Amino acid sequence: MSLDFHKQIQNLPPTILTIFGATGDLSADYLMPALLHMDKHRLLPEDFKLVCVGRRPFNHAQYLDYIIKKSGVIKKLSSAQKKSFLRHLIYFEGDFADAGKFQVLARQLADHEAAKGHRCYNRLFYFATKPQQFAAITHILKSSGLLMACAEHKRQTRVLVEKPFGFNLKSARALNKLFLKYFLEEQIYRIDHYVGKETVQNLMVMRFANSLFEPLWNNRFIDHVEISVLEKDGVGGRAAFYDQAGALKDFLQNHILQMLALIAMDEPYNLTAAMIRDEKLRVLLALEPFTAEKLSSRLIKGQYRGYTKDVKGESKTETYFALKTYVNLPRWAGVPFYLRTGKALNKKLTQISIHFREPVRCLFMGCAANVLTFQIQPDEAVHLQINNKLPGLGVRLHQGDLEFGYKAAFKGEIPGAYERLLLDFMEGDQRLFIRSDEIEAAWQFVDSIAENAQFKKLPLNIYTKGSNGPKAAADWIAKDAKEWWTR
Ligand code: BG6
Repeated sequence: MSLDFHKQIQNLPPTILTIFGATGDLSADYLMPALLHMDKHRLLPEDFKLVCVGRRPFNHAQYLDYIIKKSGVIKKLSSAQKKSFLRHLIYFEGDFADAGKFQVLARQLADHEAAKGHRCYNRLFYFATKPQQFAAITHILKSSGLLMACAEHKRQTRVLVEKPFGFNLKSARALNKLFLKYFLEEQIYRIDHYVGKETVQNLMVMRFANSLFEPLWNNRFIDHVEISVLEKDGVGGRAAFYDQAGALKDFLQNHILQMLALIAMDEPYNLTAAMIRDEKLRVLLALEPFTAEKLSSRLIKGQYRGYTKDVKGESKTETYFALKTYVNLPRWAGVPFYLRTGKALNKKLTQISIHFREPVRCLFMGCAANVLTFQIQPDEAVHLQINNKLPGLGVRLHQGDLEFGYKAAFKGEIPGAYERLLLDFMEGDQRLFIRSDEIEAAWQFVDSIAENAQFKKLPLNIYTKGSNGPKAAADWIAKDAKEWWTR
């Protein structure tokens, strides 16, 4: 079966997308590759301008060459592709310290609209800079006139804000306050690219479009849930940023808690952004906060050997954690959620496994619990482990795997998360973006760990690069008579 590109046929309104931080790593490795791909597949609005703002002195073509060279993802671009993309591209040299300069950009954009017979554009702004620059940029947007999209054509302005959205609850609240001073919640798109991954979106479909799962989706039938995000790479060129954040803030607050919310939420009344976000919020608010005592027994942290070389100095920052938490809602009472992530491990693998209870009484020797695994990446798939009779004259059990692999089932390239999210941003669809209260609820939970004095006192387990992570994490889960599940 081929993939569904329904968005392709939708008519996107004339759009100007301005990216702040256009010369950074995020732009080179994620945004530009996504936009180039969208251009190639004719997924961009017919009337589209892309304004890339950076401090370096480039012309449009030089900027594109710079990005191609810098990007670890863009392999090669044919001259036809380059030419096609350059039709959209405006590189604008601007320093956020010089707010006045952006009036020039505002005039340029107004001139562009005038030249098109005063055709109005949606004005979209992407904050792909360091969070410390967000305040300056919002000020620039307001003072330069860039926010003025023409109302008589019902054109809109929207902003998309990259993670990290704050470093703790306090700073996240301050950021929300800042953005909500200039924009309405409906104009603010807080991104979490994991939510845009194909297989993460499939979680809601699997749960709510199959009558099979929902009756079993509770503490009567589920023993525990595991979410593992294993990464092969170390911190690479992001050492300075990562050392400030660590695995908890880099991964738990956003990607892992978003996946957890989608696994644990109730069925929303409908598929509007408001309803989906309300249900996710209920889960995030119900996460059991950590206390000093719980931290000692329910959390393991680690750091890969050689990390201090990467960050060029002493550091106690965790590059790995494994923790156990609970969702204090009736559906999940007593069901542990084991969450873990780590850098510099032996493989890249993101998966969520739902471990059902073993049959109350097993007539046969060797019944194992059913396990439903959502493999998010790299090989997108859904697996269900079942007990099956081993063919032969005796009655012995064998654990078989019902597998639904995307590679075998679907032909074609699965759209990347950034492509989907950029399209949603252009269409004004907020369903895959995070609301202010969700962000704050997630930080509240993470703060109960990261801002707890006990967290610093926990032993930092050093693990070998390319290993499974610290042995302490395996020993710790074994105490609950479990082992980490990887298929
Ligand atoms: C980012 C984190 O949000 O996601 C990185 O800051 C991490 O540390 C990255 O490596 C992983 O994304 P993906 O899509 O490659 O799994």
